[in-house]
Amino acid sequence: MRPARRVIIDADPGIDDVVTITLAARSPEISLVGVTTTYGNAPLALTTRNARIALMLAGRPDIPVLPGADRPRSRPLATAPETHGKSGIGYASAVPAVPLAPAPHHTVLLDLLDAVPPPVTLVTIGPLTNLAAALEADAPFVLSRVGYHIGMFGSIHERGNANRWADFNAWCDPEAADIVVRSEMPIHMVGLDVTRQMTVTAAEVTALGRSPQELARWLGAALQFYVEFHRSQERLDGCVINDVLTIGDLVAPGMLGFESKDIRIDLDETQHRGHTREGGPSPRQVAMSVDTHTMRHLLSRVFGRGWWAQHRQEGLA
Ligand code: BDR
Ligand code: CA
Repeated sequence: MRPARRVIIDADPGIDDVVTITLAARSPEISLVGVTTTYGNAPLALTTRNARIALMLAGRPDIPVLPGADRPRSRPLATAPETHGKSGIGYASAVPAVPLAPAPHHTVLLDLLDAVPPPVTLVTIGPLTNLAAALEADAPFVLSRVGYHIGMFGSIHERGNANRWADFNAWCDPEAADIVVRSEMPIHMVGLDVTRQMTVTAAEVTALGRSPQELARWLGAALQFYVEFHRSQERLDGCVINDVLTIGDLVAPGMLGFESKDIRIDLDETQHRGHTREGGPSPRQVAMSVDTHTMRHLLSRVFGRGWWAQHRQEGLA
């Protein structure tokens, strides 16, 4: 087996974020060296707390969680309580309690990158505010430390989820996304074109509630809220767990099919805010196909073996 790759996750937990963080913590191919947080699906204090709870339940309370930005660079703060619940984790319990008042720290990624031997794989699954701040402060240093970056943001053809065109992460802080896309950072963009295909059904989420494993039950309670949101918003009898594909592709390289595309971020104030348009300055790798079968199999690491057995019984595997 290859040595585990050192990974930092920058996240805004978030229901799909906590599934992703716990999957990374439970994956031997990955050495998760830290999680940095940002506002996004919930305010910073809650996203930071949610990351800590997720790591505790995954059996890795030792992994540091460091708070970063508490707002976008120049836009008003917006969160997503209708999608993720006021707590950011739907109906999942917020115990064990952890302190709720982190001081925002805008260059948190620089500190963590400084503390970890390179090369580091950076996984961004929230607004890109922390990464943009790090690049602005010291781009050569960031580039010397980050060997690979994969980020959930954007959409090429798929309808947006924040407005007609944009995904939530690019929409939250388009100026930050613009800085990242125009930088020399290596970028593998995982957008709605592929994440919309990564669904779990309402019945599967209900079954998680009966799992003997505490982590699976906790994730199930979070996902139950997500299912209700998707049902009311788009009549989907399940939910889309966007962020997991980033870790999935690190653990099972080739799971995502990337194409080279020139992308730029629309800084429009209205309906194109955060739109990842084609026609940017340099080619980026953009995920345009996904092997969801492999991804679903990997999820048994956090959803439990019963999850995969259920698939087999139902002829889905
Ligand atoms: C992204 O926005 C958030 O709601 C999810 O956590 C994901 O990172 C999808 O557009
Ligand atoms: Ca997220």
